[in-house]
Amino acid sequence: MNRYFQTFIYAFASLMIISCGGDSNAVDAKSDRSVQYFPNMYESVGYETYQEGDIFDGNVEAQLPVEGTVNRGWLPYEYANSNEGYASAKAELKNPLPYTEENLASGQELYNIYCAICHGTKGDGQGHLVKNEKILGVPSYADRDISQGSIYHVMYWGINYMGSYASQTSIEERWQIAHHVDALTRDLKGQDAKDFVSVQDELEMESQLGNHAVDDHGVEMHGEDAHEDDHGSQVENHSSTEGE
Ligand code: HEC
Repeated sequence: MNRYFQTFIYAFASLMIISCGGDSNAVDAKSDRSVQYFPNMYESVGYETYQEGDIFDGNVEAQLPVEGTVNRGWLPYEYANSNEGYASAKAELKNPLPYTEENLASGQELYNIYCAICHGTKGDGQGHLVKNEKILGVPSYADRDISQGSIYHVMYWGINYMGSYASQTSIEERWQIAHHVDALTRDLKGQDAKDFVSVQDELEMESQLGNHAVDDHGVEMHGEDAHEDDHGSQVENHSSTEGE
């Protein structure tokens, strides 16, 4: 009895071994499946980015955005990249951010990252690139007749040898920088520093402006009509970080 049982176990065990490892076609079978599990993983249902496709213009999948559409979070800037645009921004555009220690500190930090290399940490036009004669014509802020609006405008569009910072900075960041440049300019001119707004003022400012002030490049301060003008087509893309 015991022997029969033993034989049976042996037979059973060898059967298992053969069926697991003895399949000499195992490798071939892998590359030549008759059944594919989850075929979507191998053959994408969606289009690949640059794939050909005769239903698309120019036979490529990657198409330009529909005319008139904008990136998420993008908002038009109303002042054109022209002398008139500059003059209007300089006269009209106001900094929507309250002049607080926090905003000024952020502005300083960003300024030192983006601007000081040319303008110098003091704004006197003596940055590293100027000292090493890599760039000419960087002015001291004291020698320019500038306003917060014009500062914002040149950051947005650039001016002559200075490039645009519209893609590196958000609307809020540019206004923070404008506060710092304004503070530097006062300092260079020997004027008194502005007083920081009180918490009370800050709250009042916020309730007057609503939450959109910063998102609208400050234009909300000139009333609702300011939005109607559409200069959108003149403005280049913003990074998607803009929409706070
Ligand atoms: C690559 C060097 C360089 C960098 C970096 C740079 N600027 Fe300038 N900036 C210039 C030059 C050059 C001018 C003079 C342009 C002109 O009027 O011909 C200028 C002019 C200005 C002016 C005066 C414009 C006017 O209305 O007269 C302001 C304000 C200004 N820059 C702010 C900034 C700020 C803020 C940053 C950082 C976000 C910055 N710049 C970064 C080179 C630079």
